[in-house]
Amino acid sequence: MHSEGSILLIKHAAEIVTSTGTAARKGTGMNRLERITDGALFAKDGMIEWVGTTADLPEISHENLTIIDATGCSVIPGFVDSHTHFVFGGYRPEEFFWRLSGTPYLEILERGGGILNTVKATQSMGYEAMVETASRRLDDMLAMGVTTVEGKSGYGLDFDTELMQLKAMGNLNADHAVEVVPTFMGAHAVPPEYRGREDDYVTFIVESLLPAVAEQSIAEFCDVFCEKGVFSVDQTRKILQAAGGLGLKRKIHADEIVSFGGAELAAELGAVSADHLLQASDKGIADMAARGVVATVLPITAFCLREKYARARWIIDNGGALALATDYNPGSCFSHSIPMLIALAAIQLTLSPAEILTALTLNGAAAVGRADRIGTLEPGKQADIVILKYPSYLFLSYHAGMDIVDRVIKKGQVVVDKGYSNLGGNK
Ligand code: NIG
Ligand code: FE
Repeated sequence: MHSEGSILLIKHAAEIVTSTGTAARKGTGMNRLERITDGALFAKDGMIEWVGTTADLPEISHENLTIIDATGCSVIPGFVDSHTHFVFGGYRPEEFFWRLSGTPYLEILERGGGILNTVKATQSMGYEAMVETASRRLDDMLAMGVTTVEGKSGYGLDFDTELMQLKAMGNLNADHAVEVVPTFMGAHAVPPEYRGREDDYVTFIVESLLPAVAEQSIAEFCDVFCEKGVFSVDQTRKILQAAGGLGLKRKIHADEIVSFGGAELAAELGAVSADHLLQASDKGIADMAARGVVATVLPITAFCLREKYARARWIIDNGGALALATDYNPGSCFSHSIPMLIALAAIQLTLSPAEILTALTLNGAAAVGRADRIGTLEPGKQADIVILKYPSYLFLSYHAGMDIVDRVIKKGQVVVDKGYSNLGGNK
């Protein structure tokens, strides 16, 4: 997307509200926002240059100038969905109902369903369909205010399809307004052909897949499903050490179903984030906070699996840096609903509106290694902006489960406009 020589000017915002800084905020710091009433902002060539009050706005004249009057609207940073699996083939509706009638998630996987079902569909879908379906999903996410998305491979589990998923994300990143952060997750499940010789699959990842991924520079992160019956702590360590040696940053699906030591391992390795954490131990959470590992909590997954929520409140109260993400995937969480995520965070996790905003913007950016570039509305950051149809960001939680995004701006360009601004105060 090019915005060469263009200037974006937002003025008369009821408020501009944002976290500040270039690193994840932790503990009580998550609750501190900058808030400017009758706010204004201008961005040049996709980067924010100035933020302040409309009264203080300097005189600007430029031939390629877009002016937005944000009267009656709250202006916030674009959301960062820092954990998704949005590139996949096929759907698994029947499993959703099996789980509701009591079959455990891991039992379905054990029987060759679950992730392995999606693997079959992904392996046979073809590249064009893969890109096309994923692109439509990005459209839907963007409409809800998501300007950056992390996406994982892990529905290929063979050499070609794993690389294909990552290439698809690279192409989408180049062509779509949403910025895509690709994560290699070949260790998402053990493919059937390796059943009973799981260590051989780990060797295949370490010796074949990871070097190819690194050589082609098609992933920024490596993630592992560290879980009982999937990948052990030792296997996870082995894969992530190899990934680190090749220059990839690290994430872990940690302590989702059973308490397994994933959080402790994330701290030991200095991973960027550990995600899920429903069953994470006190020590694991404390180790992560001490090492600066972002705790990414995914409450829609817990909701869909009818599991106990991760202890988000406790994580923040003990000095941790918390990010919130959707975990959008065709199995455990077939939803990328930001409004639902916020509703669960407010009502079930008892996070404050300020903590939620920080978790979905700056801390999400930190979880994808981009806190220096996105996640806040400050000079020097990319102009990734959401304009809400209501005058306060409090409406994100208060208007429970509702999408209140009016306009979305990516790198200084308006990419979504739902037209609520034309209604003035009558929304
Ligand atoms: O984060 N837990 C492992 N992976 C995904 C689910 C993937 C699937 O069910 O297809 C998750 O929940
Ligand atoms: Fe996940």
